[in-house]
Amino acid sequence: MKTRIGVLTSGGDCPGLNAVLRGVALAGEKLNFDVLGFLDGFEGLLPPGRFVMLDRRSTSGIMPRGGTILGTTNRGHFVAKIGTGNRAIVPVEVIARARATLNAEGVEALIIVGGDGSMTTALQMQEAGINCIGVPKTIDNDLEATAMTFGFDSAVATVADACDRLHTTATSHKRIMVVEVMGRHAGWIALHGGLAGGAHVILIPELKFQYEKIIDAIQAREAKGSVYSLVVAAEGACPAEGQPVMRQRSDAENRFGGIGDVVAAEIAARTGKETRCTVLGHLQRGGPPTTLDRILGTRFGVKAVQLANEGHFGAMVSYQNYQVRHVPIADAVNRLRLVPPHGEMVQTARDVDISFGD
Ligand code: F6P
Repeated sequence: MKTRIGVLTSGGDCPGLNAVLRGVALAGEKLNFDVLGFLDGFEGLLPPGRFVMLDRRSTSGIMPRGGTILGTTNRGHFVAKIGTGNRAIVPVEVIARARATLNAEGVEALIIVGGDGSMTTALQMQEAGINCIGVPKTIDNDLEATAMTFGFDSAVATVADACDRLHTTATSHKRIMVVEVMGRHAGWIALHGGLAGGAHVILIPELKFQYEKIIDAIQAREAKGSVYSLVVAAEGACPAEGQPVMRQRSDAENRFGGIGDVVAAEIAARTGKETRCTVLGHLQRGGPPTTLDRILGTRFGVKAVQLANEGHFGAMVSYQNYQVRHVPIADAVNRLRLVPPHGEMVQTARDVDISFGD
């Protein structure tokens, strides 16, 4: 009888998840593992039979596809993170049901592909005696324990593409364009996407902004003959005197969104210039992964299987110094990597005349 391992995708989806699943299936086949793909995140562990077999045939052609063929959710019985930084305990009976399902199917190790919240759940399951291996995933690229996550590059490419398009229409109409991008706590997408997309102002959560400074930057451009400007705002960007703009506060994760419209209205009121806002939203999470994300996803998936084979349970795959390594899941959870306000990336942006409104 072959060794059986399981895999699931949990939390918000992102481009590159299917590359991970294909990597797990093919590397698993090589090691003579049967790979069970549980459906809809951790929820697939509750009722019996909520899985599909992942093998060469069922993962053929999935690498360029966005999303996850297994489905996912950031709600449900296993949510272990509430609000910002707060943790919840997954009920013991829920973990017991998951363990019973895994035991019934003879699954010896479970690969969990997810973000900080999912790793918090993984840690609790590991502590309850289930052999878990983590694969980090977030388009926000804000996990301290890994230098890079797949999905980020694809999101940045989407932002840069949107900026390219907005430049041309902004020039024609001599308008100010505001683009709202994802990034609740970390401004990596705004910073990289804005830099690649030739933004003139970038607003990130790490650097509180002042409207006067944004207006100064726009007017300085006008004084030099530039009749339009492009502002990229992370959804978590916040004025020095103010609060982040939320769509919805709840017991689960807070939903950010709306800062783009607020900034656009303020710019229009203060400059008298026509100003428009585009919210990229989930476009940043959808669509085919970039080549970089396909490769990183594949490497993460293969590494997770190797860790299972070597019995490195309680470990999370991590990208460090161009190598795929692993760290304890316990060291990875609840540690966000924010944009260093005085770091090289921010300085580079300032040196090409990008204002942070600070
Ligand atoms: O954490 C990833 C992320 O993409 C955030 O940047 C964004 O605020 C959030 O997910 C959106 O989540 P949902 O799909 O639940 O709206």
